[in-house]
Amino acid sequence: MRNQIYGILFIFAIVFGLSGISSKAIADQTAMVYKSGDRSSGYTYATKETQSIQDDDLANPAYLWLDEGAELWNKVEGKAGKSLRTAWQIVGEYASEAGVTYPKYNAKLGKMQSLEQRINQLRTEVMGAKPYKWESKEMLSITIFIRNLSRGKPMNVSIDGPVIPFFNAGKKFFEAKRGQLDMSCMNCHEENNGNMIRANTLSEGQSNGFPTYRLKWQKPGSIHRRFRGCNKQVRSKPFKYGSDEYVNLELYVAWRGRGLSVETPAIRN
Ligand code: HEC
Repeated sequence: MRNQIYGILFIFAIVFGLSGISSKAIADQTAMVYKSGDRSSGYTYATKETQSIQDDDLANPAYLWLDEGAELWNKVEGKAGKSLRTAWQIVGEYASEAGVTYPKYNAKLGKMQSLEQRINQLRTEVMGAKPYKWESKEMLSITIFIRNLSRGKPMNVSIDGPVIPFFNAGKKFFEAKRGQLDMSCMNCHEENNGNMIRANTLSEGQSNGFPTYRLKWQKPGSIHRRFRGCNKQVRSKPFKYGSDEYVNLELYVAWRGRGLSVETPAIRN
C-alpha cells in the first residue's frame, strides 16, 4: 500500500516536472496580501466560485497562456539571434522585478513605459524582432509570464523625480468626469465600491491581477482593454491601447494598489 502511494507521488512529480508546471505555479496562496492599508484587491470582491478558480492553479484557464509565455520567453527570434530572456539580461534589468515596477520611466523616451511597451522595445531594439500586437495571444502570454514571476510580491511602482508629472496626469485622468454619463473612475471605484452595478459588485478597480482572465471574455485581457471597457461604460470615447493617457493612468492605478500582491493571472467575472 505504502509503496503504491509513493509510486503515485513519484508519477505525479514526473508529470508536473515535465509538463512545465513549475513549483512557482503551485504557489502558496496564504502568502498573498489581498488587503494593504485601506486598499483591497478585486479578489476580495469576487464570488467564492471565482476565487476558488484563482486559488487552484490547475483549474485556472489562464495557465495555458502562462505556459505559452514561458516558451516565448526562451524562444530565439529576430536578426540578433536572441531570446527575450537574453535581451532582458543584456539591459541589466531583473525580469522578476518587472511585474511590480512597471509602468516605469524610460529616460530615452522621456516618458513612462508599460510592460508591454518594454517587451516590444527589447524585441525591436535588442532582438531585431517584430513587435507583438497589443492584445495578441503572444503579448498576453508573455506579459502574463513576466508578471507571474512577481506573483505574491507587493506592487511597488516609483512615483519620484521625473515620474511626478506623469503620475499627476494619471491621477487627473482618474478623477476627471467623462462621457455622456459624466462619471469618473473615482465615482465608481472609490465612492461606490462594494455596491452592485448591474450583475457586478464594484471593486476598487485595482490592477494587481492583470492581465486577468475574465470569465465573461473567456480569455485574458490587458489592463488597457479594461480601461477601454470602463470608458465605454460611461459612453466616453476610449483611448488607444498603449496611449500615453492610459500608460499614465496605469501608473496611477498601480500606485493606488501599492502593497497588494501581484496575482497574475487573476480570475475575474
Ligand atoms: C460606471 C462605473 C465605472 C466607471 C466610471 C469605471 N469603472 Fe472600472 N469597472 C467597473 C465595473 C462594473 C468593473 C467590473 C467589476 C469590478 O471589478 O468593479 C470594473 C473593473 C475595473 C477594473 C478591474 C478590477 C479587477 O480587480 O480586475 C479596473 C482596473 C478598473 N475598473 C479601472 C477603472 C478606471 C481606471 C476607470 C476610469 C477610467 C474606471 N474603471 C471607470 C465600472 C466602472
